[in-house]
Amino acid sequence: MASYELLKSFVFEYGTPRVVLIRSRKVGLINRTVQLLILAYVIGWVFLREKGYQETDSVVSSVTTKVKGVTLTNTSALGIRIWDVADYVIPPQEENTVFVMTNVIVTPNQTQGYCPELPDDKTECTENISCVPGYVSTHSSGIQTGKCVPYNSSISTCQVFAWCPVEDDHQIPKPAFLREAENFTILVKNNIWYPKFNFSKRNILPTINSTYLKNCIYDSHTDPFCPIFRLGKIVEAAGQNFQEMAVEGGVMALQINWNCDLDRAASHCVPRYSFRRLDNKDSAHTVSPGYNFRFAKYYKDSSGTESRTLFKAYGIRFDIIVFGKAGKFDIIPTMITIGSGTALFGVATVLCDIVVLYCMKKKYYYREKKYKYVEDCELGANETYGTNS
Ligand SMILES: *[C@@H]1O[C@H](CO)[C@@H](O)[C@H](O)[C@H]1NC(C)=O
Ligand SMILES: *[C@@H]1O[C@H](CO)[C@@H](O)[C@H](O)[C@H]1NC(C)=O
Ligand SMILES: *[C@@H]1O[C@H](CO)[C@@H](O)[C@H](O)[C@H]1NC(C)=O
Ligand SMILES: *[C@@H]1O[C@H](CO)[C@@H](O)[C@H](O)[C@H]1NC(C)=O
Ligand SMILES: *[C@@H]1O[C@H](CO)[C@@H](O)[C@H](O)[C@H]1NC(C)=O
Ligand SMILES: *[C@@H]1O[C@H](CO)[C@@H](O)[C@H](O)[C@H]1NC(C)=O
Repeated sequence: MASYELLKSFVFEYGTPRVVLIRSRKVGLINRTVQLLILAYVIGWVFLREKGYQETDSVVSSVTTKVKGVTLTNTSALGIRIWDVADYVIPPQEENTVFVMTNVIVTPNQTQGYCPELPDDKTECTENISCVPGYVSTHSSGIQTGKCVPYNSSISTCQVFAWCPVEDDHQIPKPAFLREAENFTILVKNNIWYPKFNFSKRNILPTINSTYLKNCIYDSHTDPFCPIFRLGKIVEAAGQNFQEMAVEGGVMALQINWNCDLDRAASHCVPRYSFRRLDNKDSAHTVSPGYNFRFAKYYKDSSGTESRTLFKAYGIRFDIIVFGKAGKFDIIPTMITIGSGTALFGVATVLCDIVVLYCMKKKYYYREKKYKYVEDCELGANETYGTNS
């Protein structure tokens, strides 16, 4: 019997919420205003601005670079010398980055042997007793032998077993040794792909012909799609001074932005270039500024001794950073956006309820109308549901 009553109420009854309609200009206006604001937000911001109807994908890309330019130096140490790409781009090829040497300290004809260490407050000496055989520190060029030998006519330093003569890098050449690097150019070839949409493109646009490509130099106003950049211009566009940066080196970013709306024609999907300096040049970072590293070229001299030419290279590393997002209409994100937008209308109800039930003068009257109050009392025998059997 009890189960029959339960079944009856479950199957043959339908409950629908009762709605309280408040005839009030104030509350009605608040409700409509909030709804209008939400509608404006959903259509204006979520749909049109943020393109909530689109499926999005991130870019996949590959980059190749080619630097061009030659320059001539004329110094007492090296004589007249030509520097071409094979000399100043180190290593010859790298992934998404290219290093251009702008300044260098060359120490030619180094061989393993005994020679005086560079003078500083630890290595300067007057007699053998101040030099410790076998001593080596992080700043040493070699291992001390325990002798004190003349460095030049006025001072003596501890002797070391090292690649001799030791490199003297106290004086960085200024202006930079390869200051003409300002006029070198870099060709950046970038292929991108949006896998979700099977959309691919490259930064040498179809409208660019080979005559144009041979002569153009990127300029944000006149040639914004030319993929050939003058190094000086890259550094300038980032608000830096090339000649200053060339002395101690640095790191630059060449950013390629491929944000595309693929609902429009493919020709509207174009790269946008921007530049920034990545290493910090602030006064807070003046300790060990710039970017440098050492490398050596080894050879055997006429007597068969192993010798090397040591280079301490200062230069600018250009990191090519590709980023971007593409969007295209898709039914699933559209439905999700519509669903969440509709759900937002619930906010209007919540807000109006707060106003009506807590803020208005007639709040007690409205509360009485809205809620049906039920007291918690002991159930009498005749009120007990389904136990009359
Ligand atoms: C190199 O410099 C020397 C002296 O500084 C000068 O006599 C010579 O003409 C220069 N050579 C070139 C090719 O500039
Ligand atoms: C280096 O060695 C070569 C041959 O041994 C010599 O001709 C040249 O002058 C040396 N250079 C320096 C800077 O010592
Ligand atoms: C010897 O070397 C020291 C340190 O590099 C330098 O200050 C000094 O002027 C040099 N003396 C001569 C005579 O070259
Ligand atoms: C770079 O080229 C321009 C024009 O061709 C020239 O005026 C400038 O002096 C060159 N820069 C350097 C550092 O030689
Ligand atoms: C991707 O696009 C290329 C041409 O743009 C086409 O040849 C290829 O079949 C497409 N692949 C897929 C999976 O649609
Ligand atoms: C190449 O393009 C330039 C402008 O972008 C145009 O002036 C020139 O005539 C074109 N040359 C050829 C051979 O199509």
